Amino acid sequence: MGTYTIAVLAGDGIGPEVTEQAVNVLSAIGQHYGHTFTFHKALVGVAAIMAEGDAISDATMELCQQSDAILFGAVGGSARYEGPNSKVQPERALFRLRKGFELYANLRPVRPFNALINASTIKADVLRGTDMLVVRELTGGLYFGKPSEIRTTAQGTEAIDTLIYTEAEIERIVRTAFDLARGRRRKVTSVDKANVLSSSRLWRQVATRIGEEYPDVELEHLLVDACAMHMIRRPNNFDVIVTENLFGDILTDEASMLAGSMGMLPSASLGTRKTAHGLFGLYEPIHGSAPDIAGQHKANPLAAILSAALLLRYSLGLTQEANAIEKAVEQCIDEGIRTEDLREAGKPVANTEEMGQQVIAALTHIAV
Ligand SMILES: NC(=O)c1ccc[n+]([C@@H]2O[C@H](COP(=O)([O-])OP(=O)(O)OC[C@H]3O[C@@H](n4cnc5c(N)ncnc54)[C@H](O)[C@@H]3O)[C@@H](O)[C@H]2O)c1
Repeated sequence: MGTYTIAVLAGDGIGPEVTEQAVNVLSAIGQHYGHTFTFHKALVGVAAIMAEGDAISDATMELCQQSDAILFGAVGGSARYEGPNSKVQPERALFRLRKGFELYANLRPVRPFNALINASTIKADVLRGTDMLVVRELTGGLYFGKPSEIRTTAQGTEAIDTLIYTEAEIERIVRTAFDLARGRRRKVTSVDKANVLSSSRLWRQVATRIGEEYPDVELEHLLVDACAMHMIRRPNNFDVIVTENLFGDILTDEASMLAGSMGMLPSASLGTRKTAHGLFGLYEPIHGSAPDIAGQHKANPLAAILSAALLLRYSLGLTQEANAIEKAVEQCIDEGIRTEDLREAGKPVANTEEMGQQVIAALTHIAV
């Protein structure tokens, strides 16, 4: 029995709709297991720009600082604040949170549910048994290296981006991957382009050195192009995949398609900061604010609910409770409960709230 504080930043579009269901599920977990969750709600994204003048206020950053974890919905979706020329962009909220809390490790588990295996474009035989965790470095590499600009020279216009990684940056993300592998099937696939890039050669050196500290975990090195191929050819052969920012960005989108729907995939972004219970982190579905379906009760809340399960596991150390949520979600899917995005002929369609209630009902039988 514990007491925990969670910052709830639901954001825009379907963000508040799906986050509400995740909060309800956490409350149900609190009741079943005797925990007290205190939820501190604050605005982010377009909602915060309109009410507070910025995508995330200092007060909200402080509120997150005081919390054990952040449950995030989605931001964006307003034409008024989209585009590089807009004065304040909703995405600034995410960048400030990632940078401010040094959330360098982005975790994206991909485990297609058996009952949804035919929703993927990959053959069922190839997909069956897939259960991978992609660990992407989130605050370094090409996306942050300087210089990064388009410039004019005597030879004409040229563009430059800088790919830089320090040994320390590589070491901490690789260590995260190995620690996570110890709680899973004890295999790490480190992905790089060591045959071409210097940063990748350093990446491979560091991964090999850290691997020696984990003799109980198998280490495999793959070039990124080969990894992209194997992810489709033998997805069930991976356990933990660790890679740098750009490669991770591309590979996680590829991996997400193994699971069939955007509305099913959760994510965790973890940092260096430790709480009394685990690692401080930000948890969010991989999808955006989906303005096309916002306010229509059609959004699939399962990615948000599964993100809440990751929050329990990584930031609060509540493994049994996290497992219970994942089992409840699987049970609902097995029973044929589907939101619009997973619609199947002959099966009734649940709205956002109904899907949340079904997960809570399933929890009643699972939680002991
Ligand atoms: N982390 C974030 O906050 C985040 C991530 C991605 C995009 N965005 C923002 O979201 C806005 C919309 O972006 P987009 O349309 O490219 O991506 P999106 O993920 O919002 O939507 C893509 C498609 O998937 C559907 N979809 C998404 N989530 C769903 C769910 N839970 N249930 C059912 N269907 C779902 C949508 O209806 C849409 O057709 C943009 O402003 C973008 O910048 C925010």
